Amino acid sequence: MPLVAPSLLASNFLELEKECKMINESEADWFHLDVMDGHFVPNISFGIPVIEHIRKVATKTCDVHLMIEEPGRYAEAFRKAGADQLIVHYEACPNLHSNIQQIKSLGMKAGVAINPHTPVNFLTEILDDIHHVCVMSVNPGFGGQEFIPQTLHKIRELRHMIQERGTHVLIEVDGGVTLENSSMIIRSGADVLVAGSTVFKSPDPVATIHRLKFSD
Ligand code: DX5
Ligand code: ZN
Repeated sequence: MPLVAPSLLASNFLELEKECKMINESEADWFHLDVMDGHFVPNISFGIPVIEHIRKVATKTCDVHLMIEEPGRYAEAFRKAGADQLIVHYEACPNLHSNIQQIKSLGMKAGVAINPHTPVNFLTEILDDIHHVCVMSVNPGFGGQEFIPQTLHKIRELRHMIQERGTHVLIEVDGGVTLENSSMIIRSGADVLVAGSTVFKSPDPVATIHRLKFSD
């Protein structure tokens, strides 16, 4: 059964407390929080103060996805705001190994995200050091985009790499996940489904989370 991580980017920000409580009471596993800086990606979302507020209500793991340049400058602030897991982008980190060590030394789990054009084998030397890989199945920056089908073979390849090494890294898939493609994504080897629009734009988000969780 996959873990389900609703992305709050698609939630109703005027009702954030209500949205968080809905996730608390649902079968979702993580809160997925997308931070964008307008440089690494062509959009700006929310940052540290908003996460602090979400943390006061959220009773589940907060998985913070940093789509920002120089994430190391802010890692401690995100920890203080309540992040349990910090995802940095492979493409934003020339000193990725040191970013990962920093995240772990702050007491968080470290994740690495890869953009659609980045091959999974670029992670070979870092796989043993991280908790999860966030495979981007859209170009990061916006919710509500369409799933890029080539992602499926990246997930399969990554699953193979993980099995060969005997490590326990989780594969998270982020972007364009729907009730129609979730089974295919899981069968390709994903452990965690991130879903923004599919959850929050549905008439019954709790039921949608249940359906994602039990997609087979
Ligand atoms: C995209 C973000 C995603 C996004 C997913 O840059 O990283 O987490 O919120 O949204 P959907 O599920 O609507 O594609
Ligand atoms: Zn994300």
